Parts: sequence; C-alpha cells; structure tokens
Amino acid sequence: MSKSEIGLIGLGTMGAMLSLNIAEKGFPIAVFNRTTAVTRNFHEDAGDLADMITPTESLEDLVAAIAKPRAIILMVPAGAPVDQQIEALRPLLDEDDLIIDAGNANFHDTNRRGAEAEDQGVPFLGIGVSGGSEGARHGPSIMGGGTKSSWDRVEHILKAISAKYEGQPCATWMGKGGSGHFVKTVHNGIEYADMQMIAEVYGVMRDGMGMSAKECAAVFKKWNEGPLQSYLIEISGEVAAAEDPKTGKAMLDIILDRAGQKGTGRWTAIEAQHLGSAITVIEAAVAARNMSAVLDERRKGQNVFGAAPQKLHGEITIDDLEQALIGGKIVCYAQGFDLLYAADAHFEWNLPLPEVAEVWREGCIIRSSMLNDMASALRAHPEENLMFSPYFAGLLKQSDGALRKVASTAITHGLPVPALGAAVAYFDIMRTERSTANMIQAQRDFFGEHGFERVDDDQPDHHGPWVG
Ligand code: 6PG
Repeated sequence: MSKSEIGLIGLGTMGAMLSLNIAEKGFPIAVFNRTTAVTRNFHEDAGDLADMITPTESLEDLVAAIAKPRAIILMVPAGAPVDQQIEALRPLLDEDDLIIDAGNANFHDTNRRGAEAEDQGVPFLGIGVSGGSEGARHGPSIMGGGTKSSWDRVEHILKAISAKYEGQPCATWMGKGGSGHFVKTVHNGIEYADMQMIAEVYGVMRDGMGMSAKECAAVFKKWNEGPLQSYLIEISGEVAAAEDPKTGKAMLDIILDRAGQKGTGRWTAIEAQHLGSAITVIEAAVAARNMSAVLDERRKGQNVFGAAPQKLHGEITIDDLEQALIGGKIVCYAQGFDLLYAADAHFEWNLPLPEVAEVWREGCIIRSSMLNDMASALRAHPEENLMFSPYFAGLLKQSDGALRKVASTAITHGLPVPALGAAVAYFDIMRTERSTANMIQAQRDFFGEHGFERVDDDQPDHHGPWVG
C-alpha cells in the first residue's frame, strides 16, 4: 500500500472525526489508537473513506506507514499523556519528522515542548482546534503555534480541512511556541463568557418574565437573525426548544443546573491575572460555573434566605435583553483581545490579532457574524481597545442603556447577572479618567508606606501626613 501523507494517534471523538476529515479531503492518513479494537472499529466504520485510511496496531507500524518527512498528529488528553506519547514516539522518528499536538494543551506545556523540540533540533507544532466533533469532522477553526517552517509543512492539509468563511480557510499560524494553544485558551474563555451571558438572559426570561423554555427558544431563534447571529445563540434556541424524550417536558427543565468545566476557561482567568489584564466578564463566567457546582450549598442558602429571583412586571423588554447581550458581548471580546495583546507583548509572539478574529469567524464554538467586524476594527485600530473603535463605540453607545437597565433591574430583582454586571463595571471604569484608586493608594501608604504619585507633580514617590 502507498505511504500515507500524515498520521494521527488517538481515535477518541475528536481524533476520529479529524481523521475522517483529513481522508475526505484527499490526504491518505495512517491512524493508531492504544486500544487496537478502537482502531479496527474506526476503520470498519469509515465506509468510502476506508481506502484513504491505514489502520495500524503499533507505533512502529504507524511510523512505517507514513511517507517521509513524516507528520503525526496527537489527539490525546492534555497534560502528561502528551509527554508520554512524545517520549514513546520520538525514538521511532527521523530528526525531521514533525509531531503536532492538536489537543487542548495548556500553552505553558506547549511552550516547554516547543523549546525541548528546538533543543533537540526536531520540529514540533501545538495547534488549537475548535468546533467540537462537528467541527473536527466538517471544518474546525485551527490556531497554529510553533516554528513557521513546521507550520508550512502541513499548512496545505490544515487549511484544506478547516472551516471556510466566504472561501477563506479558518486556519492560521499564530506564532512560535504555545501561541496557538494560548489563542485557543482565550477562545475558550470567551466561550465561557458568551455562554454565561446567554444563560443570564435566559434566567431573566425564565425567572423574571416567567417565560417557558419554548418561548425562550423563539426569542433565541429570532435573535439569531440579527446582530447576535452566532453558533451559541443558534444552539441555545435548539436546546431551549428540545423536549425530554423520557418525560415529554422541556429538556432544559430536566437538566440539573451544575455546569462542568474541563478547565480551559479557568486557564484564561489565571493567565490574565499573571499578565495584569482585566477580563472581568470571563472571570465572572468561570466563577459562575464554580458557584453552579456547589448545589448543596445553594440549597442551604435558599433555606436560610429564600430564593433570590423575584418576578418582573414589564421593567425589561426582550429588545432590552438583546441589546444587553450585544453590549456585553462587545465588552467581553474587547477584554479577550486585550488579553491577547498583553500576552503578545509579554511572550513576543507577534500575534496577528485581526487574523485571530478571522479564524474565529467559522468552525469554532464562538463563531459569529460580529467577528468579521471585529477583524476590520482590529485591522484599522491595532493598538486600541476594541470598545474604542468607531464601529463598536457606536454599538456600545446604542446598547449601554439597555445593558445598564437589564443589569440593574436584574440585581434589584434577585436575578443573578454576574457577567453582564461585570461588563457594565468594566465599561464604566474604562471610560472614566478619575477613578477611586487614589483611595487604594492612600490606604497602602497608610499601612505600608508604599508611597503614591500626586496629581500636581510628576515625582514618583510621595507619602501622606500619616507617615511619621
Ligand atoms: C471547542 C471547545 C472545546 C471544549 C469543550 C469543553 O473549541 O471545540 O471549546 O475545546 O474543551 O467544549 O469545554 P469545557 O468543559 O471547559 O466547558
């Protein structure tokens, strides 16, 4: 049998779907899974694509099945399994054979693996792949990190299998080291925030306005025809409309309100703190997932204080909610790109921020029509907070009133809106020259003599009269 053009290890859902996508785009692929039965079943179920797929039952066979210089994708769980797989594979490869980690790796690990590979003189790529199993099968968004020469070797395959926006492949090299996995991490942080704000608006409709899941579904479906058009709004309409096959009730009403998290959103919040970047909407979304997990504690709280939500009586309209989501989304993405900007300055990756927005336009979980406008704004105003670009400043001026009204009314009616509330506070702080941090400086100088600057001179280190 002729040699395969690429190899893949790890036939879990994402690995299997990616392999079928690669085969379907005409690239012969050799595959391996630690459990041989999985490999055999995958090949048997591959149908017409089976001829493009070479199943192998050992790493040696996998390596032998791939044309040189080889490229092998790892789709194994992030963390130690990736290191273990590299350790097992590298001795079987030639020096110019490329290993590509396409899992949800922590970018610090990818930075390390890239540096180790460079020390050994061998190629390595870490690529963020977004879009879930559907995306992996029919077109993910791909964010590449590593040496450009390594990316260039497989770019033709990655662009071929990626999602397309108006014919443009949603696959781009972001920079060296862990840059690709960092961009994916920020994608996931924004994903958490998008999902949280949708859940908050759903909560206002359900608990404040007494709307049924089906009524909420109709609202999401309508919003998906306007400025909020996006995959997450689309699927929110789908899940709200779904019925539980077991009871016939609205599926949403049967699902327990305890959110899981594999941790990528948490990584985003951690890195933002290290970089001094304020991503308060994303942080609120991560915290909201943490609070959803302590269900027993929340039950106790309800027994002590009574449930928070109170009914609304027309104080908020559906249009207010749509505008609030638009405003919250802009603030959230402005924070996400600010974090990318801060990381770029720190790690010197030279991230192409407009192309990050372009890569997210299709295939990934946060794909939306607004990302095209964000790419244009980032291109026109590369050094500026996205909120200040003329287009988004205009949208924010239109939506600010509704965002503020929804957040404040929800708060006075016990309807939790941590992410939307964080968006209002960030917006207000970032457009106010005179903040209240002078009080912080005075306190710090009082108890720690940490010094402060004055408004009437440019000396760096003054102390108050409280310092003896
Ligand atoms: C994607 C998704 C994916 C993510 C899962 C679960 O871009 O395809 O972001 O990578 O890991 O959706 O994420 P959580 O368990 O953290 O919600």
